[in-house]
Amino acid sequence: MMKEDNLSFDGICEHLPQSFDKSKIRFFHVINSTNTEAKRMAAEGAPDGTILIANCQTAGRGRLGRSFYSPEDGGIYFSILLRPKLTMKDMVLVTVAASVAVADAIFAVTKVYPQIKWVNDLYLDGKKVCGILAELVSNPDSGEPEAVVVGVGINCKAVFPEELQEIAGNISMEGADKNSLAAELSVRLSNLEEMVKTKSFLQKYRENSMVIGRYVTLLQEPGSTYLVTGIGDCGELKLESDGGEKRSLTTGEISIRLAGLD
Ligand code: BTN
Repeated sequence: MMKEDNLSFDGICEHLPQSFDKSKIRFFHVINSTNTEAKRMAAEGAPDGTILIANCQTAGRGRLGRSFYSPEDGGIYFSILLRPKLTMKDMVLVTVAASVAVADAIFAVTKVYPQIKWVNDLYLDGKKVCGILAELVSNPDSGEPEAVVVGVGINCKAVFPEELQEIAGNISMEGADKNSLAAELSVRLSNLEEMVKTKSFLQKYRENSMVIGRYVTLLQEPGSTYLVTGIGDCGELKLESDGGEKRSLTTGEISIRLAGLD
């Protein structure tokens, strides 16, 4: 008999540990964007650890103002709202740590560890299977950041339009199901603050990086070519040009292009 693989609130809860506070999870069959809704809820005072999971997004958003393809039953569209007590320097690491937490969740369910493209795209067989968008929510009066929303989109069974077919792929769901993956994400991403504090994820991030030792071009600087020599403790990309010029890229609004990839 075919295993049921419809994402549902009950299905997700079945895979969560007893101790997990299920009242933190909101499930939507269709939503505009789990990140947009999580930011709205943050402004209304929703607590640390609030999780939104959707089966479809009508206005899924990616980094650099791009859209994120989120068709019905095609994947898991997930956001967690965190109110971490971290310095601004460590806040930057939330997005780096999130890639490891999500890759660990994918591995736990599919037994395949994705490769990480700096900053936080996950790839399998040369195709992007997951994107992560972390957004700060600032206090309207003080302007100080008071929350961060970490949004994760994982392609599981998406049928891509022609323009995405070359660059986007699905994780392998053979023997795996979306509800258990959503539960893994909930548990692991709820632990992000702790991960950042202990810096325990950095080694795994480097081990599974698909950019270290490869040449990249900075999207914002066409024609520039650098060798990636490493990833620093603040998540920064360490680069060296053929002429010996060294520079570091912080996890800001800059993207890199690897030969043959997005
Ligand atoms: C990227 O690849 O540029 C990041 C994509 C992030 C997509 C996820 S899906 C859940 C959450 N809601 C959104 O609108 N975006 C994120």
